[in-house]
Amino acid sequence: MPDSKTNLSMRPLSMPIEEAMRTQRSIRRLLPDPVDDALLLHLIELAFQAPVGGNRQNLEFLIVRERAVKARMARLNRVAWGSYGRIWRLFARNDPKTLRTMDAVSWAADHYEEIPALVIPCLRWTSYGPIVSGVRLPFPDFYAAIYYGSAFPAIQNFLLAARAAGLGASLTVMPLWSTLLARRALGLPPWTSPIAVIPVGWPRGRYGPTTRKPVGDVVHVDRYGNRPYQGHDAEETHPRNA
Ligand SMILES: Cc1cc2nc3c(=O)[nH]c(=O)nc-3n(C[C@H](O)[C@H](O)[C@H](O)COP(=O)(O)O)c2cc1C
Repeated sequence: MPDSKTNLSMRPLSMPIEEAMRTQRSIRRLLPDPVDDALLLHLIELAFQAPVGGNRQNLEFLIVRERAVKARMARLNRVAWGSYGRIWRLFARNDPKTLRTMDAVSWAADHYEEIPALVIPCLRWTSYGPIVSGVRLPFPDFYAAIYYGSAFPAIQNFLLAARAAGLGASLTVMPLWSTLLARRALGLPPWTSPIAVIPVGWPRGRYGPTTRKPVGDVVHVDRYGNRPYQGHDAEETHPRNA
């Protein structure tokens, strides 16, 4: 096992934050080599530093290593990917980049049981407004923002920390297409909802650069539709060495 995989668990992560943010991407092809619990706990501790609605700290993390449980999640993932993937492939048939992503998603689906660990952030419902007797009512955007917003900052922290540690990870929701079946597979109580499934392991390949639209295409100033930076990267509007 390469040196970089040993004694990482307790060492503070030292990758510059900008490098981690610019290179964190979905890594789906993973080696079956084990990932220490100590390292996962370190990453979860960092994840948990994220903002959380009302400081309720009602996010919990399930680490799944047991093959039988992974097999149940693999089945759920394959059911969703079987139909969604077929439709997506049809729409993306002339887009080689998306087709490459889909090949990676299919690879992960085929090798799901070999993934060293699934990290599953779960929210306890009990401390939220729109919950009555353990049943989540259809909630307006405002509550949805508080609810899911209490999980995704931590999830992104986790992904960045995993990147900085050299681990491969990806944010997935497909295995959760049926909360009922996922809850059963994971042995979760009814007041706890799985929010995402993060397969984690040592990457088979290398992290390539993330590709995104220029920032100017997604920024409006003062009023929607006023896009003075359209087509520009941040560097083009404020050159670093000016
Ligand atoms: C809410 C959400 C759900 C996602 N669900 C899945 C999923 O089920 N399976 C998967 O392989 N990727 C999933 N992704 C990852 C996206 O496909 C990925 O982030 C996107 O294609 C950009 O690629 P990159 O992360 O490599 O930059 C999800 C991402 C988000 C934000």
